[in-house]
Amino acid sequence: MARTFDLTLNKLEIPLIQGGMGVGISLGSLAGAVMKEGGMGVISLAHPGYRDPDFMKDPFSANVKALKEEVNKARAISEGKGLLAINAMCAINRYDEYVQAAIDAGVDVIISGAGLPLSLPSLTKDRDLLVAPIVSSAKAAQLLLKSWDRHYNCTADFIVIEGPDAGGHLGFKPEELLEHSAKNVLDILEETKPVVREYEEKYNCIIPIYVAGGMNTKEKIQEAINKGAKGVQVATSFIPTIECDADIKFKEMFLNHDQQELTLIKSPVGYYGRAIANPLSKQLEKGRVAPTYCVNCIKPCDFKVTPFCITEALIQAAKGNTTDGLIFSGITIPTQTKLRYVKEVIHDLMGDIK
Ligand SMILES: Cc1cc2nc3c(=O)[nH]c(=O)nc-3n(C[C@H](O)[C@H](O)[C@H](O)COP(=O)(O)O)c2cc1C
Repeated sequence: MARTFDLTLNKLEIPLIQGGMGVGISLGSLAGAVMKEGGMGVISLAHPGYRDPDFMKDPFSANVKALKEEVNKARAISEGKGLLAINAMCAINRYDEYVQAAIDAGVDVIISGAGLPLSLPSLTKDRDLLVAPIVSSAKAAQLLLKSWDRHYNCTADFIVIEGPDAGGHLGFKPEELLEHSAKNVLDILEETKPVVREYEEKYNCIIPIYVAGGMNTKEKIQEAINKGAKGVQVATSFIPTIECDADIKFKEMFLNHDQQELTLIKSPVGYYGRAIANPLSKQLEKGRVAPTYCVNCIKPCDFKVTPFCITEALIQAAKGNTTDGLIFSGITIPTQTKLRYVKEVIHDLMGDIK
């Protein structure tokens, strides 16, 4: 059965999704600025309430309160343009309650990755919402779409394919990333197209594919579209912007790109992630950095043995502590030396691409 709801991707004036960046890198300010340009702004659902004075006592309530505020902020900035999404990582504890809170806060789209969101339709089916998984292979796309079809009789509204050049948690083996032997995102796109076609035919709909990871020039974006992508999801390019929600010291790590070295970190989430090398990453190469607190944030983590606390490290980074913080980054750090406005970044990336 095709969708019968009003909300569609047609509300986007440009085929651009700003990638969700947690903790605290993409909140209402960045998402709203991207929406205002006609794109999809994405608020990260990873601890949006990290600055709340009650965060340590009751992280869930602080996060839900902040989420509502960030949604309202994005909407106000957007002047009614674009679409607003949240990015929900499958690995977070209380995933269902967080997604429900985002639906209650009035987002248009749920994008979910860092694992396969197999049960997401149980929360979103029959609602006027767009729903999309993030996958890193045609096999994962097949598994997910088959499962949604079998168990919920529905399909995805669109798909994001995240390739090996992306930032954040990556769905590839470390050796594939280190040796650059992982399939590139356009090859994964090619393999995923027939998988998607099967469900487009069954549900009599179009399931657009957006590709992510290293899509930092107009030429690359045009090539992806020529090869069948509907558009792109871009994150790292939006970090050194005036509107990005992180502390200025975090943003400055993304200027002077030629001085930065990239490294891989094994995250307690269970995936490897690409980050800018800093004292924290060097310390983690030698051994464990024991957590100082626990807010019970992700399912696979055991406080007593975890190599480090991902929440603590990402919060430190968002607050501008570039020594102890984890600075996730895609492979393509921008070449600019000054912060820019989101409008300028989008103009450079998209040009006349509609
Ligand atoms: C600082 C940072 C944080 C990120 N956090 C998340 C996250 O919380 N959840 C997620 O699904 N992806 C996350 N990502 C991945 C992005 O959403 C995006 O898909 C990817 O980085 C796109 O590649 P690009 O950065 O080369 O444009 C993060 C990326 C960066 C750079």
